[in-house]
Parts: sequence; structure tokens; C-alpha cells
Amino acid sequence: MKNNILSLLQNSNDYISGEHMSKTLGVSRNSVWKHINKLRSEGYEIDSVTNKGYKLLYVPDILNNTIISNGLKTTFIGKNILYYDEIDSTNTAAKRHSSEIEGTVFTADLQTGGKGRLGRGWAGVSGDNVAFSILLRPKISLDKVSQLTLIAGISVRRAISNLYGLDAKIKWPNDIVVGKKKICGILTEMSAEMNGLNYVVCGIGVNVNSESFDGELKSKATSIFIETKQKQKRYILIQEILNQFEILYLEFLKNGLTKMLDEYKTFCVTLNRDVKVIKNGTALIAKAVDITQNGELIIEKDGENICVNSGEVSVRGIYDYI
Ligand code: BTN
Repeated sequence: MKNNILSLLQNSNDYISGEHMSKTLGVSRNSVWKHINKLRSEGYEIDSVTNKGYKLLYVPDILNNTIISNGLKTTFIGKNILYYDEIDSTNTAAKRHSSEIEGTVFTADLQTGGKGRLGRGWAGVSGDNVAFSILLRPKISLDKVSQLTLIAGISVRRAISNLYGLDAKIKWPNDIVVGKKKICGILTEMSAEMNGLNYVVCGIGVNVNSESFDGELKSKATSIFIETKQKQKRYILIQEILNQFEILYLEFLKNGLTKMLDEYKTFCVTLNRDVKVIKNGTALIAKAVDITQNGELIIEKDGENICVNSGEVSVRGIYDYI
């Protein structure tokens, strides 16, 4: 009920009367009042004026299904949201609940066992960051699954640039960087059988409100707070990423990466750099020269072009992280 009241308030630009809310939701006005007070105690600022009703003035930076849903422009991505206060990993949660409908989003305030690429971890602090996973069932061949990470990368880059005006770039295949530091990581996992793909889980982690990073991360990681000097509302970022993701995903299902490749390349910091490609412990230093229609990186070594698939490789600049 509290969430229904919140939805009514969030979807209205003006005051809504207690009577209107009680009729719409089929509860007493006293019950409406109680839930309004509960919302206030959680940090929502709700103005009340006699004969006019209630108006939402401020939404705190808390995450839940209702807050994220009210503002989504999507038709199926994020229409079903499974929110947890605390979870091991949103990717793992998505795999556990893989029978949920396509586009289901799994998110949490805190991830205690976040997973990164190549078996690494992904740390999280309660209230600081955004971690969510999208469950997808694209009808594509297995070799195209890694292209979904590029789409997620473009979505996040667009969102960070649209919302905060930051000059966000993409480090192939799918790290989002600001300046020379990483602000977002993406982990795409899939389940497949002999007869094809069951599902894909696309997990996105963005450093939003972290004030600093320790140890090894100090020189490699940044956050939206560090870059903008302002604490940001995480639900707004999740909404914008999901809005962008759906547009790109639908386009991808129709035409593959074709129409978004130019955008990807424009913002890709890896191109035209010397990079170290590490595969199975073996390192190769070469120049990154192009990205193919399939999202692979082309590197040039001694006049020969080599095609690198994102699957198992780590790519680093030879002087710094990008
Ligand atoms: C990387 O850069 O190594 C990828 C990091 C991916 C982290 C995200 S956070 C949400 C989702 N759940 C996880 O356990 N991992 C991804």
C-alpha cells in the first residue's frame, strides 16, 4: 500500500487529496495518512495543505521497486524489478530466478559478493553504488552474446553523459571511464545448451557516491561523486541506463551493432593506442586499430591484423589502465 501511495505521489505534479488517494486505492483516509507518515520517516518530504492534499517534494536516495519503476520509459526492460536490501551478486540472483520474464531487473542496495570479469570481484558499499543485472532472452546465436556487453557500455556512457554532462568514454570491450579512471564495469553471463541460448544476464556496476578508493583502486577508479562533487540519486541513473538499454537492445535485435558502431568507436578510448592484450597469461603488445561489426577489437602487430574477441582477454594501455 505504501508503494501504491508513493506511485500516486510520484506520478502527480500537483497536490493529490487524501480522499482521491483513499478512493483510488480502496483504503481509509486514516490509512493513507499513516502511510504518508511512514514515507516521511524514511526520508521522503511530503507537503500537506488543507483542502489540497499531499505533494511529493523530495525523494531520498533509497532504492526500491517503486522508486525505480516510476520514471522508466521502457516497455519491457525493468517492468519487473526484484530489489534486495542485500544480495551476494545481482548476476547470481538473476541466474537463480532465470524463469522471470525477459527484461527483469535485479538490483540491491548492497552487493556482498559482486563478481567482476575474468574471475575478479566487484566491491560494494551500502548506499554508495549502483549494481543491477538485466535478464534477457535474445534469439541470437551464442557467438553474438558478447555484443550485448557493448550495448550495455553504450547505454551507460550515454546515461552518464546525459545526466551529469561527464565526458565518459568506453574502454573496449565494456569498461566506462572518465578521464583515465574506471567508473563502471559490466559482466555479461549466459546459460546455453546444445540447442541454443537459454538466457543472458547483463550485470552493470557503477561507482556513484563513493568518496574515495583505497589501495590498488586509488589510481584506477573514480565515481560520479568524485567527478561532479555532488551526491547523486542512484535510482535516476538506473532509470536512464535502462531507458537507453532498451532502445539499443531493440535496435540490436533488428540490425545487430551496425547502427551503433560509429557511436561506439567515437567514444572508444582503446582505438589508436598501443595496448597489452593478455590471454591465458600470455601478453601481446600491439596497436588497437578498429572494431568490427561483431564488436571484436582489431589489433595490428608487425603489419598483421589480429581479431580479438572480448571473451577471455584483458586489455590494458601500456602506460596506464586505459
Ligand atoms: C568488471 O569490470 O570486472 C565487471 C564488473 C561487473 C559488476 C556488476 S555489479 C552488478 C552485477 N553483479 C555482479 O556480481 N557483477 C555485476
